[in-house]
Amino acid sequence: MQIIFATSNQNKLIEARSILGPSFTLLTPADYGITEDIPETSGTIRGNAIQKARYVWERTGLPCFADDTGLEVDALNGAPGVFSARYAGPGKNSEDNIDKLLGELDALGEAAGGRSARFRCSVALMEADGRLTVFDGIAEGNITSCRCGTRGFGYDPVFRPEGMEKSFSELTEQEKNVISHRGKAMRALAGYLLSLK
Ligand code: IMP
Repeated sequence: MQIIFATSNQNKLIEARSILGPSFTLLTPADYGITEDIPETSGTIRGNAIQKARYVWERTGLPCFADDTGLEVDALNGAPGVFSARYAGPGKNSEDNIDKLLGELDALGEAAGGRSARFRCSVALMEADGRLTVFDGIAEGNITSCRCGTRGFGYDPVFRPEGMEKSFSELTEQEKNVISHRGKAMRALAGYLLSLK
């Protein structure tokens, strides 16, 4: 099955190809000449996922999906949340985002009352006929006190999933996909798409 994944993030594309497997051929907006930044201005993770999928569907009329992810840290009242990409500024720099996150938690010290956090991911699917369906996935865990591991992207070096001694960056891609927010949401997407056949 051919479907567009409305992303320009190569890390997400690699993960999605691995999660969805050989039943799906993933195309990208660039394959259809869409090279501009796709707007994500809705104010919620679900809303941004829908906005990105709809943007590409309106320009291609083809089935497509988009994901949006946020990291919610309890001691920071759910921040950075929907602002995860731009937490340290508009440059969307992951190293700066991690520095800011660790700095905020260190500044709270004992007052933080723990470092529990979760990745929340929404995957929005637009079918060719305009039908919209959203799939959600959550990975619970904790923020480490420093970076661990070299794999993955974004906040992976400082996120230790619940029940594990390793950060996402210390897991193989397959190990991360089994338990990750994106793995859960995209397996639900795959199940839905395959049930339509
Ligand atoms: P977005 O979904 O591309 O808007 O991502 C929001 C922010 O979360 C960006 O800073 C990403 O790098 C980060 N992010 C998204 N998915 C993951 C993940 O699976 N692991 C770590 N960071 C992620």
